[in-house]
Amino acid sequence: MDFHDRPRRLRTDGVRPLVSETELSPTDLVAPVFVDATADERVAIESMPGHERVPPEACVDRVREITDTGVEAVIVFGIPESKDETGTRAWADDGVVQRAVRRIAAETDAYAITDACLCEYTSHGHCGILEAGAESDPRLTVDNDATLERLERVAVSHAEAGADMIAPSGMMDGMVGAIRDALDGAGYENLPIMSYAAKYESAFYGPFRDAADGAPAFGDRRHYQMDPANAREARREVALDVEEGADVLMIKPALPYLDVVADVRRSFERPVAAYNVSGEYAMLHAAADRGWLSLEAVARESLLSIKRAGADLIITYFAEDVADAL
Ligand code: PBG
Repeated sequence: MDFHDRPRRLRTDGVRPLVSETELSPTDLVAPVFVDATADERVAIESMPGHERVPPEACVDRVREITDTGVEAVIVFGIPESKDETGTRAWADDGVVQRAVRRIAAETDAYAITDACLCEYTSHGHCGILEAGAESDPRLTVDNDATLERLERVAVSHAEAGADMIAPSGMMDGMVGAIRDALDGAGYENLPIMSYAAKYESAFYGPFRDAADGAPAFGDRRHYQMDPANAREARREVALDVEEGADVLMIKPALPYLDVVADVRRSFERPVAAYNVSGEYAMLHAAADRGWLSLEAVARESLLSIKRAGADLIITYFAEDVADAL
């Protein structure tokens, strides 16, 4: 043998943990919670095994199940009792997320993040106020600036209910700055914003849209969410959000976009979050159901890979299961 460098020397059981570069901890994970104002009992979400839509009265039980595993943070999504053109239930004081967060804040120690968007609250399922005629003309879409004003109200109403962090997910230009100003104006200067900074127009959101009843009634989201073909553009999106005051930068989805996670980690001095989305979760479950993959192993490897790419925190439907196993 004429070589001396043998990487295998560091792969014995004794030394592997010493040289391990990445570690997964329950405190890196955020678990999504779906609160449904139309439900009077907990209802399983078929495409996301292990997840449920829970009535507001049951959200504390649901959150306690999560914190019992060692996961300390949740992100709350709401399914409102009714929808309309402009999504007014998204900023109602007695809206589904506002009611849920009030309980979570009063009765649990969980760190409560809220998703601030309109798509679950609008009758057309788009993430904002539509331009006139958008239903029939595919060139028309969400009115960016009219939507900002609504997102400000959503964010402030979440803050008033007791949210610990606001996560705007609508991909409107200027949304982080608008929300930052609105929160500051209402006295919430210390409430952080986690921006869905680079959110792609991805087909991996399918199961979530069933779960949260948020699929667009017509068209798609390509006019506001990012083109999966683009990575340099992610840097531009993230730079704008940093300028506007984002505290945490999220990339979404996670696994198909690890190049973007790694790039944002290197290029910006802010914590990086990755959203391991519903489709990433559902496909591993589907394969495991067929006996083709070992669920626990692929779930853990997925999350480890997302951290290795540079994520500081991960929003994932695997949070409880992986935390339990750790
Ligand atoms: C709302 C929102 C979506 C997701 C999180 N927030 C749906 C969408 O943009 O269509 C998707 C999450 C997932 O698939 O797990 N804008």
